[in-house]
Amino acid sequence: QGLHQLFVAAGKLFFGTAIETNNFNDTAYLAIANNRQEFGMYVPENSQKWEEIQPAPATFDFAAPDAVLARARQNGQMFRCHTLTWHSQLPAFVANGTWTRDTLAAVIVAHITNVMTHYRGLCYAWDVVNEALNDNGTFRDSVFFRTLGTDFIPLSFAAASRADPAARLYYNDFNLETSPPKAAAAVRIVQLVQALNIPIHGLGFQAHFRVGLTPNVTSLVATQNLFTSLGLEVSFSELDIAHLSLPPNASSIARQSQDYVTVVQACLAVPKCVGITLWQFTDKYSWIPSTFPGLGDACLYTADFEKKPAYEAVRRYL
Ligand code: XIL
Repeated sequence: QGLHQLFVAAGKLFFGTAIETNNFNDTAYLAIANNRQEFGMYVPENSQKWEEIQPAPATFDFAAPDAVLARARQNGQMFRCHTLTWHSQLPAFVANGTWTRDTLAAVIVAHITNVMTHYRGLCYAWDVVNEALNDNGTFRDSVFFRTLGTDFIPLSFAAASRADPAARLYYNDFNLETSPPKAAAAVRIVQLVQALNIPIHGLGFQAHFRVGLTPNVTSLVATQNLFTSLGLEVSFSELDIAHLSLPPNASSIARQSQDYVTVVQACLAVPKCVGITLWQFTDKYSWIPSTFPGLGDACLYTADFEKKPAYEAVRRYL
């Protein structure tokens, strides 16, 4: 039995992975990714981001995410959608535009409405707002925050709810699990949206962890409960656990296994944790080495598609 199958048997909705169309010519990769026993959920790693899906005003390119969706449907897998209002991977026309509150709000609403209407009824969840916070809990500087203050957040969720009332609407961010002020600020974001009676259903913990620095189960459960107590579901939305020094040694390999099991335990311990999504399952396509030079080997499979001890540990635990 594969990880998704075992996770479902344990009461969860999915164990999934990020994938992208540039992986589609790799048959060894696809043999694993298409196996629904291992992965019950796909999320496009990049192709639904603003700069790819609407690179120029009113110019939409749905080809790549549509291809990811088609594969998920063919495999009988769920589909998570990522992401709408985010400061990064923004096209120049948005990032460098001259905006008033009204003109930028209109551009955000048009983006969300167009993209979500295209996928209406097809996404289990949408990461509506991604990474609005700094690690110290203040709001991140972005064209959205500079122009609209915090209003860009409820405005995004309201547009999302109108465009696809069936999608679970998520706030998604990293380091909420390790920075209490950032988690507290995310709680305030949820409350801000809820106070306006605008739907928000989920909190995504990106879970880009480091070997040996992954929070323990108690801490991960406490962080999830900050949000489940507000009525939200939660999930670990972009899990990878990078080695801090390479090549890994026996003890860091054992620690990576333990850290992956910790995240699985933490989701199993919280009834409203619906699932875990890996940010790629093989080191061959992990974003970590190019973004964080010196770090790597963060995935459950090696670059040669061998299952790592961490994979075996998770499977044994499940
Ligand atoms: C990353 C992708 O994995 C890379 O391929 C891309 O170059 C940059 O973005 N938080 C997120 C993801 O929400 O969208 C990011 O994905 C990783 C951090």
